[in-house]
Amino acid sequence: MYKELAKYYDLIYSWKDYKKESKKINKLIKKYKKSDGNKLLDVGCGTGKHLEYIKENFSCTGIDLNEEMIGVAKNNISDVDFKPADMINFDLNDKFDVITCLFSSIGYLKTYDNLEKTILNFAKHLKTGGVVIIEPWFTKSTYMVGHLGMTTYDGEDIKIARLNTTALDNDLSVMEMHYLIVERDKDVKYFVDKHEVGLFEIDKFLEIMINASFKAEFLKDGLMKERGLYIGIKS
Ligand SMILES: C[S@@+](CC[C@H](N)C(=O)[O-])C[C@H]1O[C@@H](n2cnc3c(N)ncnc32)[C@H](O)[C@@H]1O
Repeated sequence: MYKELAKYYDLIYSWKDYKKESKKINKLIKKYKKSDGNKLLDVGCGTGKHLEYIKENFSCTGIDLNEEMIGVAKNNISDVDFKPADMINFDLNDKFDVITCLFSSIGYLKTYDNLEKTILNFAKHLKTGGVVIIEPWFTKSTYMVGHLGMTTYDGEDIKIARLNTTALDNDLSVMEMHYLIVERDKDVKYFVDKHEVGLFEIDKFLEIMINASFKAEFLKDGLMKERGLYIGIKS
């Protein structure tokens, strides 16, 4: 997952307004953060697109499971400490004022058991009064089964088409993303990127955050339609 995609990721998501989203994240941090420092950790940072903007106001670290994504982030963005790590069990031996986990990266944990471990790990890496901001994937009721997806990128030297349908397997959403990519002077490439993402319910998610010592709430009006945001202040 994401391995082959890493070098095309920023093109396929070129429609996404990371600058506007980062502004909103900054506002939320101002509103909720009670600790004094400015150390921020972005978990599941991908190619680091939010950090490109957030780094103006914070001293930033980004971690991601996928080394290829971290490689792209390192190449594109300076003054951020990027490292490969798994959000379930990373140990940075450090405490942050802010942890962000955006664009549904948390959903790749798939199970509540993994979610519990990860939220406890976030708590361990936060200062008292620090804030965690998590953008989830859909819930079972907001996820649309049988949706037909198409995203394209039309550049001078590269063209990409991504097609998928959405399926359900118990509490998991399953999406096989079929990519066709043509680049100048290269053969056409075809590959499938399969995503299995947990459909976590809001009440269970909040319970897990509260049990991990967070004062937690869910904001319906988040960064993207229907996804919302979890905010937790570490007590
Ligand atoms: C949809 S992308 C979001 C990337 C980035 N936050 C953004 O907004 O573009 C999901 C990311 O989560 C990462 N990821 C999945 N499971 C992870 C895990 N257990 N620990 C850390 N990162 C993970 C993937 O490698 C991928 O880069």
